[in-house]
Amino acid sequence: MAVRIAPSILSADFAILGEEVRAIDAAGADWIHIDVMDGHFVPNITIGPGVIKALRPHTAKPFDVHLMIAPVDPMLQAFAEAGADCISVHPESGPHLHRTLQTIKALGKRAGVVLNPATPIEAIDHVMDLIDLVLVMSVNPGFGGQKFIESQLAKIATLRQRIDASGRAIDLEVDGGIDRDTAPRAIVAGADALVAGTATFTGGPSHYAANIAALRGR
Ligand code: DX5
Ligand code: ZN
Repeated sequence: MAVRIAPSILSADFAILGEEVRAIDAAGADWIHIDVMDGHFVPNITIGPGVIKALRPHTAKPFDVHLMIAPVDPMLQAFAEAGADCISVHPESGPHLHRTLQTIKALGKRAGVVLNPATPIEAIDHVMDLIDLVLVMSVNPGFGGQKFIESQLAKIATLRQRIDASGRAIDLEVDGGIDRDTAPRAIVAGADALVAGTATFTGGPSHYAANIAALRGR
């Protein structure tokens, strides 16, 4: 399967977010990755359901919403109604991951689990039937522009084996420090979707298409 590129709008110009989303759509983004942070689960505050709702008319591409908030359960409905297509949660963001995933599915959305660099793969062992996506964090969540953590390549490779063995259609996405050097390595390890903030937005709108193509190896 061709790799999907999901630009993270965390690295976009927040003063003109609608324009930025239209620009990455036109530049070939497959999904729009939206990083939601609460200043509590992670040490940064970004955007909430109101901004996502405002962005929804600017693209028909799927919104890949990465929730870094705790507790996460009380906010799921708001993100679903705002226009999320896939909602991904960290196991550490609530006491009942299985229930959280059931809620996302009941809202009619794709469900993802996010594994922090230190979170073991086993966190998803008993929820494989509920998930559409696994997101491997190759940085500690909270900020764009961090360095890719090499140890996560082995985790990606193991996840690729587990997903293939399960026979389920589960996407394997990687988030953090993806650039033209790390992207091919993540793909070889087994990733089929890549989040890219800095690597997409560097150079401004005239560079977005080339930046995204470079991540695909073109
Ligand atoms: C970090 C976010 C990432 C971030 C990636 O907490 O989950 O999506 O925007 O940024 P880059 O691609 O610059 O590492
Ligand atoms: Zn993210």
